[in-house]
Amino acid sequence: MKAIILAGGVGTRLRPLSCTRPKLLFPLLNKPLLDHTLERLAETGVKGVTLAVKFMAESFMKRYGESTNGMTISYSKEKIPMWTGGAIKYAEELIGHEDQFLVLNGDIFTTIDYRGLIHEHKENEAVATIALYSVEDPSRYGTVKLTDDNRITQFVEKAPLGKAPSNLINAGVYVLDPEIFDYIPAGRPVSIEREVFPKLAKQGKLFGHTFTDIWIDIGKPEDYLRANKIMLDVSTKKRLIGFGAKLGAEVVINDPVMVDSGVTVGENSQIGPYVIVGRDTVLGRNVLLENSVVFPEATISDNATVRGAVIGEAVTIGENARISEGCVIGDYVTINDNITLSKHVTVCHSKEVKENVSESTNII
Ligand code: GDD
Ligand code: MG
Repeated sequence: MKAIILAGGVGTRLRPLSCTRPKLLFPLLNKPLLDHTLERLAETGVKGVTLAVKFMAESFMKRYGESTNGMTISYSKEKIPMWTGGAIKYAEELIGHEDQFLVLNGDIFTTIDYRGLIHEHKENEAVATIALYSVEDPSRYGTVKLTDDNRITQFVEKAPLGKAPSNLINAGVYVLDPEIFDYIPAGRPVSIEREVFPKLAKQGKLFGHTFTDIWIDIGKPEDYLRANKIMLDVSTKKRLIGFGAKLGAEVVINDPVMVDSGVTVGENSQIGPYVIVGRDTVLGRNVLLENSVVFPEATISDNATVRGAVIGEAVTIGENARISEGCVIGDYVTINDNITLSKHVTVCHSKEVKENVSESTNII
């Protein structure tokens, strides 16, 4: 079995952190999202994965090379963004026509049983089978009308509020038959959701497979924080302290907390709940850190407070600084001593913040 992972999106909604890394390489429990997905594919018995890439393609090639987890990795590198359907068509030669294959939107994490999906696809002799997940607000997603025998009779991408045919959304996990290539025009960008699925639905060749396992979309910063929170909740261990991490005297840890290797925490600091700290980060004394994700190699100095924020790689937060809920601090940023950032401030990578910020804004 082969799989294509769509990995070429820009990740606009995750700026500023997506300016310096692709969305698929954002850490979830201190490991890139794509590592989790590749592990699940390997467990399913997938032998070859094609990464459909465009933006920051090199970061994928550097990390995964030509094989990982016993699977071969190939790269379908688009010259211009081909969009979801165009990207699949562009990978046609690498995938071939022998067998049905999996296609995954790379920016989601799910524990769906891929085998069950493949099985149903074969039973129905479908051209395409879409994994469907039930959500409260389907407006940001593709939605479907499903018959009792799991046929999709209507597919609508991002229907206006109140206009979606159901709350069942396209989870971004498909099994496709090679016949799909006949439905995607070559040589131009094509949205599979807007151009191909509606046509297949009309012809009765599109099927759905509902599931209730974990499904998380990391589309926006709040989704990304929530994704880490859910992963901590479902993790069997509620406190994970990495190799070589050093915790000072009187440090209070409120589970769940995950601290990666080489992290140091100064005395009297309080960490958690729902905190993930990346490798080699240094926390000073009396630091308060809760409901946040900190990327590797950051420094959070004495008496600083960080609540509900995402702190990028190698960020320096000065003494007595206060970072409030919804803040997203880009890689290599310096927040000077005694600075307060109010809620929902985002700071672009490599900036220095020298003055308090009292309203929600983007510092670019
Ligand atoms: N190779 C390549 N080329 N990949 C692309 C391109 C492209 O031009 N454009 C987007 N992608 C990748 C993205 O990196 C992502 O992994 C996936 O395709 C989906 O694109 P998004 O831009 O994230 O789409 P979305 O989140 O608005 O909507 C999609 O996902 C929802 C589920 O999360 C749609 O498939 C919806 O129908 C679906 O409900
Ligand atoms: Mg998406």
